[in-house]
Amino acid sequence: MLSMEQIREARDFIAEKTQHRPTVGLILGSGLGTLADEIENAVVIPYSEIPYFAKSEAIGHANELVIGELKGKTVAAMKGRFHYYEGFSLPEVTFPVRVMKALGVENVIITNACGAVNTSFNPGELMLITDHINLVGSNPLIGPNNDELGVRFPDASEVYNRKLRELASSVAAEQGTKLQQGVYAWWSGPAYETPAEIRMIRTLGGDAVGMSTVPESLVAVHGGMKVLGISCLTNMACGILDQPLSHDEVIEVAAQVREKFVGLVKGVLERM
Ligand code: 6GU
Repeated sequence: MLSMEQIREARDFIAEKTQHRPTVGLILGSGLGTLADEIENAVVIPYSEIPYFAKSEAIGHANELVIGELKGKTVAAMKGRFHYYEGFSLPEVTFPVRVMKALGVENVIITNACGAVNTSFNPGELMLITDHINLVGSNPLIGPNNDELGVRFPDASEVYNRKLRELASSVAAEQGTKLQQGVYAWWSGPAYETPAEIRMIRTLGGDAVGMSTVPESLVAVHGGMKVLGISCLTNMACGILDQPLSHDEVIEVAAQVREKFVGLVKGVLERM
């Protein structure tokens, strides 16, 4: 676990770069980072400059923190995130969430590109995350608990906040955007799942599968923040269609869904 001093140092570094005091955090998944380009009066801080932020090289991610105003809210947006499969520890993956909390963030919108496991879903649709299944066998809260940050055994009965889910559903309905709902299963990657693993995930109750979001959501809840999770279903998971998966396809479909996704998040921000 990174220390309170490290969190404060990163927080102070960011707070000195901008007068903005964000109350909403945005974590933007693969191909969805363009939302950050709409932030007004933006201050852009590369992760590489922020003390104790890890250095990510994932394709499709810009790796910068964008702080400014969007739809009347002051937001801190992560354009690119740290993944477990890159070799970072889970405390490194989730450190930015701790820093967001220290900056004053109360609500976090966590997004991702993922594969559809539920066969009634279609590529290009958005999914509201109702709950998750952790298949990774680790947890970002393992290690000594810092009682200043949160409790030892956090409740996980409502990781994805009900009120924010209701808000997102009503905004989607108003915008005529189809919003599926389902359980997100967290897979470490970097290899995609096998067809047998996808059958297992479906049997266990997973509707979608991806390589992020769960660690950040757990840390946000541990820290007392409210989480809204939105997935972009970029492809059917392995074994559903008779075709192999490629990261290029994931990025391409995420780009096609971008407009709907950006509209939904902006609509949610406006009414948050
Ligand atoms: Cl099928 N699996 C995982 N783990 N992540 C994905 C994906 C599938 N499609 C996009 N991201």
